[in-house]
Amino acid sequence: MELLQGMEELAREGGRIMLSAHHISAREKTGDADLVTEYDLAVQETIRTGLARLLPDARFVGEESKDNRSPSEGKCFVVDPIDGTTNFIKNYRHSAVSIAYLENGQVERGVVYDPYQNEMFCAKRGKGAFVNQTQIFCSQVPLSHGVIGIGTCPYYVDLRTKTLAAAAQLIKQCQDLRRGGSAALDLCYTAAGRLDGFFELQLSPWDYAAGSLIVTEAGGVITNLEGNFPGFDVPSPIVAGNPLSVPSLLKLLASM
Ligand code: IPD
Ligand code: CA
Ligand code: CA
Repeated sequence: MELLQGMEELAREGGRIMLSAHHISAREKTGDADLVTEYDLAVQETIRTGLARLLPDARFVGEESKDNRSPSEGKCFVVDPIDGTTNFIKNYRHSAVSIAYLENGQVERGVVYDPYQNEMFCAKRGKGAFVNQTQIFCSQVPLSHGVIGIGTCPYYVDLRTKTLAAAAQLIKQCQDLRRGGSAALDLCYTAAGRLDGFFELQLSPWDYAAGSLIVTEAGGVITNLEGNFPGFDVPSPIVAGNPLSVPSLLKLLASM
């Protein structure tokens, strides 16, 4: 079986667990906004054991794992079992399973699955990006006419204030803003032209690893605040969009 197909099947399995959820109770990890549910743990365990069967010599880094060192070394899966946990707990129905496969720090395959819309976003390096078998492309809309997604850094209190200050400037320079609550889906929506750009001042590798390949394979750009490709070993600010919107977004964020 092609690795990408196996990853898609496991993402669907994770999605089925998400859809089976009721009476979700959350426990705090690091603070009020940082929550984990039994479903995050169950989805991660299903995916971890499935990936170990698919490719036994690859390592596993998951948001809910204890040992999350060096995704950039060798073969490694980087997994967010439920991206958009707050949405999941609120039954807002906008969350996704995200699975990336990296070789020496380069994402080779990525899948992001939204079980509520039954949308499977996927990409294989050099082969384009797709949603449910239809090829997707970033928009060619400049910032001035763009709808821009933002992430509000719920786990970094100081960055939340800075984000809202940047958003107050940004909304004067674009058509409108969106805050979806799943960074993985924000990146896929950017790849599909549903958003014209996206930024969040700090994300973890499992939030953006799969989405980063989906964006670039859709003709888009993903950078840190310096305009460089973000690595996967430590959290990073993320700016994504089309080749017209990203330079304008970077300029605005640099002025903050
Ligand atoms: C979060 C979501 C959210 C973003 C946060 C992420 P989680 O992931 O992607 O949209 O704003 O920064 O941490 O905790 O729901 O997996
Ligand atoms: Ca996440
Ligand atoms: Ca998560």
